[in-house]
Amino acid sequence: LDFEITLTERPTPAADREAILADPGWGMHFTDHMITIRYQEGKGWYDARLEPYGPIPMDPASQVLHYSQELFEGLKAYRQADGSIVTFRPYANAARMNRSAQRMAMPQIPEQLFVDALELLVGTDKDWVPGKEGQSLYLRPFMFATTRALGVNRPADEFLFMVIASPSGLYYPRGIKPVSVWLSQDYVRAAPGGTGEAKTGGNYAASFAGQAEAVANGCDQVVWLDAHEHRWVEEVGSMNLIFVYGEGSSARLLTPALNGALLAGITRDSMLKLAPDLGIPVEEGKISIEEWQEGCESGAISEVFGCGTAAIISPVGRAKGTDREWTIGTGEPGPVSMRLREELIGIQYGTKPDPYGWVHKI
Ligand code: PLP
Ligand code: COI
Repeated sequence: LDFEITLTERPTPAADREAILADPGWGMHFTDHMITIRYQEGKGWYDARLEPYGPIPMDPASQVLHYSQELFEGLKAYRQADGSIVTFRPYANAARMNRSAQRMAMPQIPEQLFVDALELLVGTDKDWVPGKEGQSLYLRPFMFATTRALGVNRPADEFLFMVIASPSGLYYPRGIKPVSVWLSQDYVRAAPGGTGEAKTGGNYAASFAGQAEAVANGCDQVVWLDAHEHRWVEEVGSMNLIFVYGEGSSARLLTPALNGALLAGITRDSMLKLAPDLGIPVEEGKISIEEWQEGCESGAISEVFGCGTAAIISPVGRAKGTDREWTIGTGEPGPVSMRLREELIGIQYGTKPDPYGWVHKI
């Protein structure tokens, strides 16, 4: 598909852009352009465009506004030490978007079209890729149903795929300082057979009440437990969770196995591949809140961290529920968490070798 390119007549003045890049915050500023590609059943993908960033006209009966037939992805473009710009594992995001699309009865997008769209947007707005440590250009591909119809007896047949880009700094203003987490009993993020494995907006809409409950209980983030027994640990906020057992040369990782209710994080997958290379064995399994608490109290569990594209890794320092509360490790970021973080960031920013070919040059 060839993109029709319309550059903005009013690009952000360089001085204003530099001021934003000096302290971008997270997800608040957007670059000068965006991608739109349309889809119609029977016709496939068509009308690919790069356009000035701006509002999109929508019919009020568009299905997405009523039934949330939507999905999204998230990945970053990094400015590497030698000045080149790369994205990290973009084909993995394309593949996950297509898995989400299958669950949400939405069309598959060719992986190469997905990556071409990212490359065109990042290449056009390359001056928006910040260069300081920890900064990046967050890329947000998303797709939603534009069919004008209120009936729910058939899925939509018209969709819009878009990509927008947002210069970003640290996701959590406290950086890598350990967060406290709340074990929600009232709210469930996802149930077997539901949409937990799909990166669809409704999962996040449904999470806000749980997050608010965490904050009301003095915690930073909410831990999602399984829907059935409210006992088995699944995710934290919008990150996957990794538990570190043991210390030093006997450290090993345990992370909840992908059971249909968890999002298959690309950071999680990267950690599971990098850790064994550093001599840290990994296991995908199950862990209950009782095992988590006992493990911390006995010293068997030395570190716990959340991982995701936005925050990279976020150590967990304290956990609290209605009837229990405990501390994890020393309350400071642990050495295994920091070692893995360093390794991943090194690959992303080009200061360490990229043994798996994860880095994709623009
Ligand atoms: N879990 C949830 C619910 C998420 O929304 C995300 C990130 O978007 C993750 C985990 C981490 O996934 P990734 O590492 O691909 O960013
Ligand atoms: C992540 O990238 O880790 C996220 O959780 C993104 C979030 C804003 C949905």
